[in-house]
Amino acid sequence: MRLAGRFANIRSSESMQAIANEFISEELRGRFHEAKNVLVLTGAGVSAESGVPTFRGGGNTAVWKGMPFEVISSAGMLAHDLPAVWEWFNYRRGLLEQLKPNPAHVAIARWQDRFENFALVTQNIDGLHQAAGARNVIELHGSIWRARCFDCGARREVRELQFGDGVPECFHCEGRLRPDVVLFGEMLPTGAYENAAIRAGNCELCFVVGTSAVVYPAALIPEVARAAGAYVVEVNPERTPVSGLCDEVLTGKAGEILPLLCQKPDRWGGQRSLRSA
Ligand code: OAD
Repeated sequence: MRLAGRFANIRSSESMQAIANEFISEELRGRFHEAKNVLVLTGAGVSAESGVPTFRGGGNTAVWKGMPFEVISSAGMLAHDLPAVWEWFNYRRGLLEQLKPNPAHVAIARWQDRFENFALVTQNIDGLHQAAGARNVIELHGSIWRARCFDCGARREVRELQFGDGVPECFHCEGRLRPDVVLFGEMLPTGAYENAAIRAGNCELCFVVGTSAVVYPAALIPEVARAAGAYVVEVNPERTPVSGLCDEVLTGKAGEILPLLCQKPDRWGGQRSLRSA
């Protein structure tokens, strides 16, 4: 179901409900209202409407100072030129600092109090889920807002650091700090995927939002959920490799589709009474 162009004229909760009735299946709205165990997996697309470029599909993060993204954001560059890696991440943080969560982040943050068991698993390092109020986010690829010590592993908020010669020092052991993100050629943080996979294996409703689903192991999460019997729903303007295994594919922007999901199913008189997420 494609939603493009239907949102410019939304004026009221009644029109939200009407669009939800038209575009979100009765089946999904019913499941959404009855579910207890819900998991959301997000990728760069969930932040696209905040102004964060995606990695694929025309995103503009490909080159910085003549270096391809996968070179400057790599384990090799970390070993070879740590100040350049910090400069690149400081630059990216400077851009992110000006951006705000969009309605998709806000909708997802509200869901955490709606469902008995809710897990938010993200591949994003931008911190926009947390800025929208999300708690206990499972960050598969780390966070651009944290640094980690090479030597003792201590973590610290980047905002608290002094950069001096370009590489901040650890406050515990005076070792060198690095961005606490997963770079090309590196493993995921210990336990992050395992935790996400356990939650996926226990969920009954799984949303796959704004990810091209080509980067592993994150791309396995929808498969784990499906194999465990969950109803899997993709939200993305484009089809992806996981579209085929989804029970429903909602074609459109996350910031437009996710706020519609909390509209009641018709059989509950959804047309008139709106329950907030
Ligand atoms: P990608 O850039 O690969 O994919 C972004 C997805 O978002 C695409 O499928 C788009 O169609 C979709 N999209 C774009 N705008 C959207 C919108 N408004 N609403 C919903 N979807 C939208 O990003 P990821 O799948 O997150 O890893 O990439 C995975 C990983 O690849 C990243 O975490 C990063 C990169 O290598 C590391 O840096 C370790």
